[in-house]
Amino acid sequence: MNLRRLFTLILLAVTGKQIQAQSPDWAEKIAPILYTNCSGCHIEGGIAPMSFTGYEAAKTYAYSIKGATQSKSMPPWPADPQYRRMAHEKLLSAQEIQDISDWVDAGMPSGDTTKAPAAPSPKTGSSILNANLKLKMPDYKVKTSNDEYRCFVLPTGLSADKFLTEIEVVPGNYSVVHHVLVFHDTSKVPLQLDSADPNPGYLGFGGTGSSTSKMIGVWVPGQDPFQMPPGMGIKLEKNGYIILQVHYPANIQDVTDSSKVYLKYSSSALREVGIAPALNHIAPSLQNGPLYIPANQKKDFTSKYTVPIDISIFAVAPHMHLIGQKIKAFGVVKPGDTNKFISIPQWDFHWQRTYTFTKVQKIPSGTVLWGNASYDNTSGNPLNPNKPPKAVSLGEATTDEMMLVYFWYTLYQNGDENMVLDTTQPKNLSHTNSFATHSIVGFPNPAGEIYHLRGVTNEKDRLNYQLFNVAGKLIPCSWKWNGEEVEFDIRNLAAGNYYLKISGIGFTKNMALIKL
Ligand code: HEC
Repeated sequence: MNLRRLFTLILLAVTGKQIQAQSPDWAEKIAPILYTNCSGCHIEGGIAPMSFTGYEAAKTYAYSIKGATQSKSMPPWPADPQYRRMAHEKLLSAQEIQDISDWVDAGMPSGDTTKAPAAPSPKTGSSILNANLKLKMPDYKVKTSNDEYRCFVLPTGLSADKFLTEIEVVPGNYSVVHHVLVFHDTSKVPLQLDSADPNPGYLGFGGTGSSTSKMIGVWVPGQDPFQMPPGMGIKLEKNGYIILQVHYPANIQDVTDSSKVYLKYSSSALREVGIAPALNHIAPSLQNGPLYIPANQKKDFTSKYTVPIDISIFAVAPHMHLIGQKIKAFGVVKPGDTNKFISIPQWDFHWQRTYTFTKVQKIPSGTVLWGNASYDNTSGNPLNPNKPPKAVSLGEATTDEMMLVYFWYTLYQNGDENMVLDTTQPKNLSHTNSFATHSIVGFPNPAGEIYHLRGVTNEKDRLNYQLFNVAGKLIPCSWKWNGEEVEFDIRNLAAGNYYLKISGIGFTKNMALIKL
């Protein structure tokens, strides 16, 4: 033990009482954390089922907030920060997680509420200043029993080529827009598909149904506008279309959406950015194809691409469908010199985003890019759309699979590797906890009669379930295993907010549950 640490320990021993008395309060410690990191989604009308605005709301969900932040399932950030740190990460620091935990353990003190930051208001417009194009899809009345992926075709009206420098999607209705892929196309195919469908837009999952569509953006809740590095842009050819492919989740009744996309472009030519799935599911990239996962099997695939010329890359976005489990991409510049790009240890189709590097990366000619992806086509995978499992092969449908790693790239120029894309100081994360995401899914929420828990299949014999009310009182409840998921019968539960504590060996997760 060094002297400094000893000193800290002594100080702690002496001032222990005081530290106790100074446990973080909501007004000055917790509200800033929640408003900055959670309110993008946990707000009235937001994508998350409950709002954390105000002291009462934070207190109501305190135990779940503590659980979700300790398990690192919230905020949702599927990329593993221990593999590579990214620009503009949406992650809590070890200290913030500790502050939340201390606050809950101290009985959720409010502190002087006049010192709390102003309550955030729901986002309505774009954060892009002076956007050149604002395109709005027609009003669409969403009515789903299953997940729906709908493509809306929006002509750009551009009579000359432009270079896209910034893009942001603004959902018309945050509570039903789960994620959006943005494409650009100049062929007539999307228009034809659109006119063949009686409703606004047309159905399409994965791609747009047109082989010439190029992806120009990805939006998931909480994603900021996407910016190209200075002097670079994606070419938007004249007379083209933007295609917004919107994912509406299941069980929506007559909610109207009218999402918008904001684009900023340069009229003078910039260094052209391409977005290419350099690692992909087709030979020669796919090393052990075809991409085929027999029913009840888990399979791993490897892709490879040798970079033929010096390039610079600045963002990466992996893409798989529903039974994808994990995916990783890295570049071997030469033996012993590996550039780790991204690792997603627990893939979730619903939280795919684009990750920007903190600096532009030079990828010298001859670098071998590698991608490793794993798929789980067993009934133990809660996100398997087929029950019982069916063989899955390459394709665009929900129930097909893909393996793509998109790279945002341009031709290398001297000095690119010095371009910094995020000037903020990275947060100090605790390295002892591993990242965990949404492997356990509870639905519906709010629930009236039966609350289902998926993703606990393999652990069903080892897990304990305890239901608590907001005062922390244990509430008796019964559950049963239905062969696929755990079902809680909550018919006799009083209406209100609860949290369900799921615990196993070295594992706890608190799920917020709202009883109607
Ligand atoms: C990008 C959007 C987004 C952000 C940011 C976000 N959440 Fe969530 N959160 C959701 C959604 C959506 C759900 C609903 C369940 C799901 O999809 O997993 C949810 C569910 C939850 C739940 C209940 C389920 C569980 O996992 O225990 C808690 C608690 C929670 N969030 C806490 C937080 C906290 C605390 C923060 C900030 C530190 C935060 N969330 C940030 C979108 C978000």
